[in-house]
Amino acid sequence: GSAKHPKHVEWETEGPFGHFDIPAVQRGWQVFREVCAACHSLDYFRFRNLADIGYEENMIKAFAAEYEVAGEPDDFGDPTTRPGLPQDPFPSPFANENAARAANGGALPPDLSLIVKARHDGANYVYSLLTGYESAPADVELSAGRYYNPYFKGGQISMAPPLTDDLLEYEDGTEASSDQMARDLVNFLIYVAEPNLQSRHQMGISTMLFLLLLAVLLYFSKKQVWKPVK
Ligand code: HEM
Repeated sequence: GSAKHPKHVEWETEGPFGHFDIPAVQRGWQVFREVCAACHSLDYFRFRNLADIGYEENMIKAFAAEYEVAGEPDDFGDPTTRPGLPQDPFPSPFANENAARAANGGALPPDLSLIVKARHDGANYVYSLLTGYESAPADVELSAGRYYNPYFKGGQISMAPPLTDDLLEYEDGTEASSDQMARDLVNFLIYVAEPNLQSRHQMGISTMLFLLLLAVLLYFSKKQVWKPVK
């Protein structure tokens, strides 16, 4: 079946002057680790990446140390764990795909590292999906363990609505409405999917300014050079 077109949000990251809204990205990181990380992995994200969104080294170490990650095998070749370090990728909540499906009624929570790029109109889509749960219309029969969401292909998703108002308490005191959390979370996922978005845009602006200046210079030097011929 088809899905409803995503709602349109004006993201700060859009357009040639697009940039990261750092407080929003930081709140989104809080939503990710306190809510989504229970089921979704974030394989391409390392704790040290938090440096780019305004966290100090000691905070990054503390974030990483909250997780147990796989260590070197011990002397008997048995697996061990150790507290996470800044260079570690964000640990996956499940040991493997079977464990992930077993915990989610057979459905697989996808890795969210690139989801805003992998889905069409991804940022708006993820925002719409998170805020778009509805009770099923009378003519729709929901399968067991499914929830009605018109933004999801087929309209039935195996993810319970993950956000409810005031689900968490924001560290910066922002009111944690579901809408706010969805926006912040998407700001974070846009950052994860393209950490160099802001420098790419800045490079583009500098290049345009440079070319503009060069055009002016060339125009006047051409006039100067051809003056005697006139
Ligand atoms: C699917 C985001 C929390 C379980 C998805 C999808 C997204 C997403 C974008 C993919 C939809 C698609 O394939 O197009 C999020 C975010 C969360 C969150 C941003 C936090 C705010 C959770 C939690 C659970 C969960 C806490 C488990 C309790 C699943 C499952 C699927 C899924 C099982 C697959 C659904 C299906 O294929 O029917 N999620 N999720 N998610 N999520 Fe989440």
